[in-house]
Amino acid sequence: MTNEDFKNQKAAEKTEVEQYFNGMGFDRWNRIYSESNEVNKVQRNIRIGHQKTVNDVLSWIQESGNIQNLSFCDAGCGVGSVSLPLASLGAKSIVASDISEAMIEETKKRANSNDIDINKISFIKSDLESLEGSFHTVICLDVFIHYPQKAAEEMVRHLCVLTEERLIVSFAPYTPFLALLKKVGQLFPGPSKTTRAYTLRKQGIIKAANESGFTLTKNKLNQAPFYFSQLLEFKKTPQG
Ligand SMILES: C[S@@+](CC[C@H](N)C(=O)[O-])C[C@H]1O[C@@H](n2cnc3c(N)ncnc32)[C@H](O)[C@@H]1O
Repeated sequence: MTNEDFKNQKAAEKTEVEQYFNGMGFDRWNRIYSESNEVNKVQRNIRIGHQKTVNDVLSWIQESGNIQNLSFCDAGCGVGSVSLPLASLGAKSIVASDISEAMIEETKKRANSNDIDINKISFIKSDLESLEGSFHTVICLDVFIHYPQKAAEEMVRHLCVLTEERLIVSFAPYTPFLALLKKVGQLFPGPSKTTRAYTLRKQGIIKAANESGFTLTKNKLNQAPFYFSQLLEFKKTPQG
């Protein structure tokens, strides 16, 4: 594929993802990331698995202490599953950004109804490739699933540019077993088929971060039926 073809494919995929998360996808994921009973068995399991990922991220951040002095960027924040707890834990500042206007509006709504100090949060409708700024910690959870390997690696490189100290990302990992499940349609079943779902090779993601000056510091695989998420933490590599 030429560079031009790659750029065009990536732009087309992004538009598709944006439309999905402003429409049918918003409805679906808003329900999954809530306590609503209007979810099927698959969606309930995705909710359980995703909560494990969120809990790990929050505990990794809390372990490292002094959250009150730290700035965060939650790229592809969805309904604010990480941004809102970070605000409650007293983070200095949070940029909650998403490609979908509907998701950003929902994050705002949830912040208001949960009595969260919204002055700490900047809500930004933006794709993560256009984000600018500098943050102590950048987080990007379960977003790369919508993009193929090369596009996801480019995203990692861009997120590294925004990161002062720590980058935390998660994605569905490529394994031969998951590849087989995907092939027979048992992975990512149901309406999620309306956007493509990609599994990614962990080594490619690590290499992209390493080449951008970051070292892998934590690594955890979270699973529930129909949910597989590889969570990685990177820290800026100390200069020798
Ligand atoms: C499966 S949800 C995960 C949401 C959130 N990170 C979480 O874990 O709760 C994926 C989110 O990524 C957003 N997204 C997809 N592509 C994006 C991009 N290129 N830039 C920013 N956000 C994106 C979608 O709009 C959606 O809100």
